[in-house]
Amino acid sequence: MWHFRLWEIQDVAVFLSIMLYMCHLAGAISIYSPQRSLIRSVQDDVIFSVNFTCSGIPNIQWTFMSGLVSRTIGAWQPGGYTNITEDYSSRVQAYDNGSMGLSDLRLQDGGFYVVTITESTGSSKDFGFVLKVNENDVTELQIMNV
Ligand SMILES: *[C@@H]1O[C@H](CO)[C@@H](O)[C@H](O)[C@H]1NC(C)=O
Ligand SMILES: *[C@@H]1O[C@H](CO)[C@@H](O)[C@H](O)[C@H]1NC(C)=O
Repeated sequence: MWHFRLWEIQDVAVFLSIMLYMCHLAGAISIYSPQRSLIRSVQDDVIFSVNFTCSGIPNIQWTFMSGLVSRTIGAWQPGGYTNITEDYSSRVQAYDNGSMGLSDLRLQDGGFYVVTITESTGSSKDFGFVLKVNENDVTELQIMNV
């Protein structure tokens, strides 16, 4: 009886270490966001809020996708360099937790936003957001009144 128990404990230990090893192989990056689908109006600001865990200091990259168009917005490292594409440089705010702020929204900003977290080992993970930008009703009314 005692031997049985001992074996069970050993089996559980072996099982757990295999699981941990497999998790390690699958990559240790995990990405979290409180909200992945956002609706804003023209001229509003938006924050694509994320947080992540990974080993070491990662590279964070944001890409915009709409239809067939895929455009790099920028890349940065927490506490390191920040490299924002010229088209976005005046409107993008880079945060150390991977989040990205985009201000003064335009209709064309509507689409998919993907953040890619890449560890120094080379393993990476993508995480996507959807942004819908509505026309600003107030602006329309003002134009109609003119
Ligand atoms: C990431 O950091 C920004 C700026 O400090 C903060 O507003 C946001 O809530 C953070 N996001 C998460 C998911 O922790
Ligand atoms: C910054 O981004 C531009 C355009 O994507 C690229 O050509 C350049 O090499 C980047 N610079 C750094 C320091 O990553």
